[in-house]
Amino acid sequence: MTKLLYGLFFGAAALFTSAVPAQEPNYDEAAAGTYVLPDPLTASDGSAVTTPDDWFAKRRPELLELFGREMYGVMPGVDRSRLAFETLRTDPVAFDGKATFKEMRVYFDAPNPAPKLDLLICIPNGAEKPVPAFLVLNFQGNHTTCSDPWISISDNTEAIHTRGVDGRERRGHKKDRYPFEMIVDRGYALATGFYEDIDPDFDDQRRNGVHPLFAPFERDVPEESRAATITAWAWGLSRALDGLETIPEIDASRVTVVGHSRLGKTTLWAGANDPRFAAVVSNDSGCGGAALTRRNFGETIESINRAFPHWFCPKYKTYVGRVGELPFDQHELIALIAPRPVYVASASEDLWADPTGEFLSAYNADPVYRLLGTEGIGEAAPDPPEADAPVGAVVRYHRRTGKHDLTEYDWAQYLDFADRYLQR
Ligand code: GCU
Repeated sequence: MTKLLYGLFFGAAALFTSAVPAQEPNYDEAAAGTYVLPDPLTASDGSAVTTPDDWFAKRRPELLELFGREMYGVMPGVDRSRLAFETLRTDPVAFDGKATFKEMRVYFDAPNPAPKLDLLICIPNGAEKPVPAFLVLNFQGNHTTCSDPWISISDNTEAIHTRGVDGRERRGHKKDRYPFEMIVDRGYALATGFYEDIDPDFDDQRRNGVHPLFAPFERDVPEESRAATITAWAWGLSRALDGLETIPEIDASRVTVVGHSRLGKTTLWAGANDPRFAAVVSNDSGCGGAALTRRNFGETIESINRAFPHWFCPKYKTYVGRVGELPFDQHELIALIAPRPVYVASASEDLWADPTGEFLSAYNADPVYRLLGTEGIGEAAPDPPEADAPVGAVVRYHRRTGKHDLTEYDWAQYLDFADRYLQR
């Protein structure tokens, strides 16, 4: 109860802050502003990064540290002796026998029952094992991702109260975003977990979710650079991967992490920190995700920090009004995933997320991918492509016709992408 009151209190505080009148967003390309992007291949001491060794030994650690300290909060370590994984239930005849459902609980602080993450994992029965997999966090509980009544209803009451999600009647209501059958038919497993199991999505000054577990790792980290909520979710994705590593039917070295919107911001940061993710998909992630921050188009650093202060560390707020002084831009977050495959996607009507800025980020990550010996964004032109015409290679991009969403069209591209880079 106390926890719930906390939630309401801080929730109300967040609403109050976002009620402060905001500047109208700009949707005019001509007014997006001029800017110079930082060069990923120039280190902060001005030296040129000319070899893969320079990148891995010097520039990559430097950029990773900057993104942690200045934006998302430093990624905490993990006490592996406190992790535990339990398979709670199994249904070997899901989808008329073509797949097996497993429900696995990831305990972050065993033997304490909470915090924990419940994973719903669907494994194709017919495919040769171990299978590659997709890992995706969902917004409203595992039971909303599929209508199969076998699936347990998420019991994270704190999060469910804060988001007003009423379990039973919402069974399967987001299933279009998680096409289980389409994925298992292609020989991949799909694992999903409720993002608020990891950290409820409201500003409570980093008290709930997994934040208390970070304390031993944050003693030497200044308050202003401590893990914010996007970092907590990304940390949770790595723990989900720890869980997948224990399942013999899944090849954990071939896991693509997929995220939509705020969770697409999260997958880029998760992929940057955890090289075990074999590939990363960032769907409609926008500001603070794939979109370049220096462009004044759609959501800005001002508006995102006003509406969602808990997503980023306090230090990031000091860049409001002086975006040109950020020591990086989001193309360099994508570059931190190199040489692993990365897919950035936009939607044509999702101007708030700045589709052009999302494309330009992917495009400007290319020099790092080339330095590391990959084809990068391939033959893509420097201008955004037509709608529904994916471009690129190991860095790939599309702008789907339609609104802010994660659709079957998007998944079809991600499956082809995984076939190309992760199938043996
Ligand atoms: C808001 C927010 C975006 C975010 C999106 C979402 O629109 O401004 O930055 O990506 O929510 O996660 O749904």
